[in-house]
Amino acid sequence: MKKTIWGLALLLGLASCSGNKTNNEMDAFINDLMGKMTLEEKLGQLNLPVTGDIVTGAAQSSNVAENIRAGRVGGLFNLKGAGRVAELQRIAVEESRLGIPLIFGMDVIHGYETVFPIPLGLSCTWDMEAIERSAQIAAQEATADGICWTFSPMVDICHDARWGRISEGNGEDPFLGSRIAEAMVRGYQQGDLTSANTMMACVKHFALYGAPEAGRDYNTVDMSLWRMYNEYFPPYKAACDAGAGSYMASFNIVNGVPATGNRWLLTDVLRKQWGFDGFVVSDYTGIYEMIAHGMGDLKEVSALALHAGLDMDMVSDGLVGTLAESLKEGRTTQADIDQACRRILEAKYKLGLFEDPYRYCDTTRYAKEVYTEENRREARRIAGESFVLLKNEGDILPLKRQGKIALIGPLANTRANMPGTWSVAATSERYSTVVEGLKRAVGDKAQILYAKGCNLMYDAQAEADATMFGREMRDNRSDAAMRAEALAIARQANVIVFAGGEASEMAGECSSRVGIEMPDAQHDLLVELVKLGKPIVLLNFSGRPMILNWETEHIPAILEVWFGGSEAADAIADVVFGDVVPSGKLTTSFPRHVGQLPMSYSYYNTGRPVQADAFVKFQSCYMDVSNTPLYPFGYGLSYTTFSYSPITLSSNELTKDGEIEAKVTVNNTGKCEGTEVVQLYIRDLVGSVTRPVKELKGFKRVTLKEGESCVVTFTIDADLLKFYNGELEYVCEPGEFEVMIGTNSADVQSAKFALK
Ligand code: BGC
Repeated sequence: MKKTIWGLALLLGLASCSGNKTNNEMDAFINDLMGKMTLEEKLGQLNLPVTGDIVTGAAQSSNVAENIRAGRVGGLFNLKGAGRVAELQRIAVEESRLGIPLIFGMDVIHGYETVFPIPLGLSCTWDMEAIERSAQIAAQEATADGICWTFSPMVDICHDARWGRISEGNGEDPFLGSRIAEAMVRGYQQGDLTSANTMMACVKHFALYGAPEAGRDYNTVDMSLWRMYNEYFPPYKAACDAGAGSYMASFNIVNGVPATGNRWLLTDVLRKQWGFDGFVVSDYTGIYEMIAHGMGDLKEVSALALHAGLDMDMVSDGLVGTLAESLKEGRTTQADIDQACRRILEAKYKLGLFEDPYRYCDTTRYAKEVYTEENRREARRIAGESFVLLKNEGDILPLKRQGKIALIGPLANTRANMPGTWSVAATSERYSTVVEGLKRAVGDKAQILYAKGCNLMYDAQAEADATMFGREMRDNRSDAAMRAEALAIARQANVIVFAGGEASEMAGECSSRVGIEMPDAQHDLLVELVKLGKPIVLLNFSGRPMILNWETEHIPAILEVWFGGSEAADAIADVVFGDVVPSGKLTTSFPRHVGQLPMSYSYYNTGRPVQADAFVKFQSCYMDVSNTPLYPFGYGLSYTTFSYSPITLSSNELTKDGEIEAKVTVNNTGKCEGTEVVQLYIRDLVGSVTRPVKELKGFKRVTLKEGESCVVTFTIDADLLKFYNGELEYVCEPGEFEVMIGTNSADVQSAKFALK
């Protein structure tokens, strides 16, 4: 019988070892194993060929089974089903010379079959417990189906709504982004990677992927170090501090060198400065793409990537295909190859795969643990928290369950669009449409009249591009016929609900757009519907901030629903009919005009700051649009209202090792119970480098009954005031600070203290 890793484990007395064993034991095990590996087998560990159904770039891999047998594969990804995973694992364990198990990854980005809101929506909950729980459920379901490694969390900070992948991140703020990064890592890994229902996180896309020039995907990034460290690095670092097991290098350049081959980034920053000790995988064809970046041929860029600190090659076949030759030619070293191989083996060890390669292949789990009633309940609850009420003039919302409700719009009756972009494991045929959700909610108390009203947009080809991956929804009737049908039912109704905005593939990877207003056909229909003079509610689906100027002017109630996941339809009904009171707050500014982008609430004053929200010659403003967003960071209404008292500070002086407390009393002044996200911002008034006009430094969710009030306390210490100065030292500087607490970034109470 062939000697496999099982035999090796027994020999070393590790048959019952767990990944919790000490580093010494892991080192001994891996030293022994590596002593038996050929160069080809070591390079095989660095290879992550494609297997799933999704292909996004120029994938190079083929002959997967044969390569597994030959020890030329380290892992596979986006393969669904514990049985299929087990079959390939069996080939690795039983038919390859050393029987080293494979690692199985997947883009489990916002849930598995139970799908949670897209990350941008999820971030608008500001609810770290909910976010952690969503990742925990995702891990439970994915591991029940064979997956032990997820390409998530995506923690790229983004200030530019043109970039389609803003949908996959947590918005514009590094402080909030860091808390979410930690919550996601905790949720996936639960501090115990060997458990059969946790999986390894992969923090992506390292680094700065969210800042491409002009918001165009994959485009050049060029940024000062000072800005990187203060605004863009914190969430990546927070994920590292939370114990994330792996990172993914981003497609873009950083300081002129693609991240995939950037030694400063992958080794100096990630490993030396932050102490990361896991492994780094390239993004899809990331190594191969360095050829087009002008870094050399495949052999050259593969050696460059390895030397930079990249350990695993996603589908370029660069490391496995060229490093042996590079070693002979002295372009790479055995030590670099060994180091990368060791890091992959360590990840497998930590996941307990050497102990039991089939740990995540228990085919009985799927039926019991995936898309369960309980998971769906959680997804529905969390989706309800993610919606942001942008406007509610005349308290149109919540609707009463009575009379006739006209439900109109291209997103009202689509199932496939509900889970949103990057939901690889979704089973959309099981998810409800908005029509079904609202009908279920009203029962026989009210009548839901449905008409599509219009296509997503007039241009059929543009719609095909925007609804790929099985999410097509084009209606071949004429525009006039569809509109006439919608107006006819709207005339009969007491209230109109319009479900429109973007289709799910209008955001996400390679979905950058410069026209981020309501698409033409929908806008024209809305104009006609508004003319009827009936109460009208817009349910705005989108994977990004859209420009909603006209809608804000003409539509009394707007609920931003993002893409809420598998249970979105019921969650929307919960909020529309008031069973759930909206509490979501924006984590990204909604601009007034695409020309304002990139934008952030946390900007730096120029020497000529604007004093008023109007054009003033020789101030830093536009002639034709204000500097302010339409809806600011942190903004979101409720069905109730909250008032804030002035801030009281426990002292106006803070010492370097002391702390002070900032308190406000928040009062529910409206007519129902509601949850408010109380936000703390701080401004460093004088610094050795210019400091933002405000930075989020804390937040608390409080639930208050009608008429109830509570005191919300934030503790401020010198650590909270630290930033990277011009020399990239992490310091706080004595002087005056402004502390602001409020309901959103543009509506705050303020007080001052000094750091001594
Ligand atoms: C994306 C990554 C993703 C990878 C694997 C790439 O195109 O940029 O976010 O994890 O594909 O599917």
